Amino acid sequence: MSQSVCRFANKELTKVLDLGMQPLGNGFLAQDELKFPEYFYQLECGFNEESCLFQIINQPKPEQMFNENYAFFSSTSTYMQNHFAKFAMNLITKYSLNPSSDLIVEIGSNDGILLEHFLKKDFKHIGIEPSGKVASIASSKGLNIIKEFFDIKIANKIVEQSGKAKIITSANVLCHIPNIKDIAFAIAQLLDSKGIFVFEDPYLGDVITKNSFDQIYDEHVFLFSAISVQKIFNSVGLELIDCEPLQTHGGSMRYTLAHKGVFRKNNSVEKVLENEFKLELDKTMTFFELQKRIEQNKQKLISELEYLRKLKKRVVAYGATSKSTTIYNYAGIGTELVSFIYDNSPLKIGKYSPGMHIPIISETEFINSNANVTFLAAWNHSDEIIKKNYKYTQFGGKWLTHIPTVSYYHE
Ligand code: TYD
Repeated sequence: MSQSVCRFANKELTKVLDLGMQPLGNGFLAQDELKFPEYFYQLECGFNEESCLFQIINQPKPEQMFNENYAFFSSTSTYMQNHFAKFAMNLITKYSLNPSSDLIVEIGSNDGILLEHFLKKDFKHIGIEPSGKVASIASSKGLNIIKEFFDIKIANKIVEQSGKAKIITSANVLCHIPNIKDIAFAIAQLLDSKGIFVFEDPYLGDVITKNSFDQIYDEHVFLFSAISVQKIFNSVGLELIDCEPLQTHGGSMRYTLAHKGVFRKNNSVEKVLENEFKLELDKTMTFFELQKRIEQNKQKLISELEYLRKLKKRVVAYGATSKSTTIYNYAGIGTELVSFIYDNSPLKIGKYSPGMHIPIISETEFINSNANVTFLAAWNHSDEIIKKNYKYTQFGGKWLTHIPTVSYYHE
């Protein structure tokens, strides 16, 4: 789906970034799939100062990304499990939710990592999840799941059968949905007049300050800011009442919205907006400058890996992230520079990374890797990963990162 006009404001996009030909970020391949041609698309990003909505220009069809084989399981990280457990409890206490009357809806409920906490407390709930395998896991936990893409038809059906939602949540999902205008409308229709819509997604401000260009891949059609979120949801009668910066996914923002005039606006909204204008997240030039920094970052990473190869050092990676697909393919990093990727996700172990075909091995084998240097591709989980592999560090193993510049941890 190529888009030369903004998906929200219908104004022409200026092409601001080009990350080359890329495969699907989550398109991990089994050995017998390696012989078939792989799907590639040109990863370019566009920006328009009217909507301030940073977006990719060519997005593969949603069915190509979120299907039976979708390999992203939210529950592979203990940190994320705790994050969602805490989030559920906060919502219940902050809004004095009542299990017998308040309906909780989650858009993109994945394997049920959030909703299971509402189920434990007997809340009426509905999860909407189109990816087959993860949706089945959620259903097997006893959750009510609609296995479809969220849209106005689903919203109307829920209202008809179960009433309006007191809470609508969504985590790391809205940034995946290209028809954001229709989705915003559907959310406004589904939300109770005194309801709360809370969503979190990777934050554009962090991408700019950390040079985390690996947040850009097929699934992330948008990288939101409070400026763009405000514009999108104001158009359907909702307003931003709170903004909470989060550590998750290497820097996210949790946005809370409600029908206009119902709740008091928290000071955080003005604070975050002020910082965004300082970062010039409303200016096209900001993204041209990002492209320059990304190019330097790529050259530095290649030089370091080539230097290590010359020294005959053993280099591996940790975390078969979707994000790293962008890095490996943009920088042309294959098995000659990174021998293996270690990961704990059952659906990825034994497979090969998209595009560059680096083999993925269970993280339980990492201790036997004899690696001198490990590229921390899952840099957003650095604390958890470095902590549990303290023996590797004790024996002299080094952790390499590209965030915000190419460097070693603890040096
Ligand atoms: P994730 O943070 O979801 O990034 P992306 O959205 O870019 O895919 O992916 C983290 C990956 O790292 C996932 O494949 C699981 C893996 N992982 C480990 O192998 N060990 C760990 O301890 C953690 C926390 C993650």
